[in-house]
Amino acid sequence: MIKRVRSWWKQKDPQLLPERSMDNVPEHVAIIMDGNGRWAKSRGLPRIVGHQTGMKAVKRATIAADELGIKYLTLYAFSTENWKRPKDEVDFLMRLPQEFLAIELDELIQKNVQVRMMGDRDGLPQHTLNAMEEAMRRTAGNDGLVLNFALNYGSRKEMTDCMKELGKQIQEGRLSPDEISPELIDRHLLSGGMPDPDLIIRTSGEMRLSNFMLWQLAYSEMWFTDIYWPEFNRNHLYEAVAEYQRRTRRYGGLT
Ligand code: IPE
Ligand code: IPE
Ligand code: MG
Repeated sequence: MIKRVRSWWKQKDPQLLPERSMDNVPEHVAIIMDGNGRWAKSRGLPRIVGHQTGMKAVKRATIAADELGIKYLTLYAFSTENWKRPKDEVDFLMRLPQEFLAIELDELIQKNVQVRMMGDRDGLPQHTLNAMEEAMRRTAGNDGLVLNFALNYGSRKEMTDCMKELGKQIQEGRLSPDEISPELIDRHLLSGGMPDPDLIIRTSGEMRLSNFMLWQLAYSEMWFTDIYWPEFNRNHLYEAVAEYQRRTRRYGGLT
């Protein structure tokens, strides 16, 4: 059965959506948005066109997540390893957040979306940070979908920083080693305050985590697709969520 769903972002031509079940919707969905470069290459275009086009997929994914009632959407936008790429590409990627927010921030505010950022701020150019901070400040009072950008994010760096901080607290006598627990570690990670992702999606056919949320993904359901990120649309998210809803999570126990 097909039904029409109205989205909160103005749509030129509302699409027909597959039926969705609102039972057991994942609370937190994380996406490794991969394949921009290959998408562009397959069309004889420069890689940056893939990144530019990928922004439209960010918007589609955000709309679809909101429609589904997902509470947290984390998008892996730039890893701590992506600095290894040519400077031109990195510079381009660092300009995308402000470009995206210049177009979308007003709508995000209006639609009650809360923008957050998870990553190492120190390495980011000031202009990128300014755009993210403005978006976070202006959406801080919203309590709808949390749109969390993993920007200059790397799980090993995150865990290293967490260990350093806990080590410092022990050294200063503010913490005893016996008090270290998974919950305490959770609170000291960049994702602190958010539940672990229920569902992790990676596009472009790659089946690896590439240093993404290694601690938080311990019991997440995984969904992979061969399509490249610029082609990702709401139906893909619906499909991933429908598949998630058919899975049984056991957490090491029995059903
Ligand atoms: C994902 O697409 C975007 C970033 C990693 C910033 P890629 O740029 O990795 O595209 P491929 O994997 O080379 O096709
Ligand atoms: C992971 O993609 C990082 C992001 C999507 C931001 P990469 O393209 O950097 O990952 P690898 O190099 O293929 O593992
Ligand atoms: Mg890639």
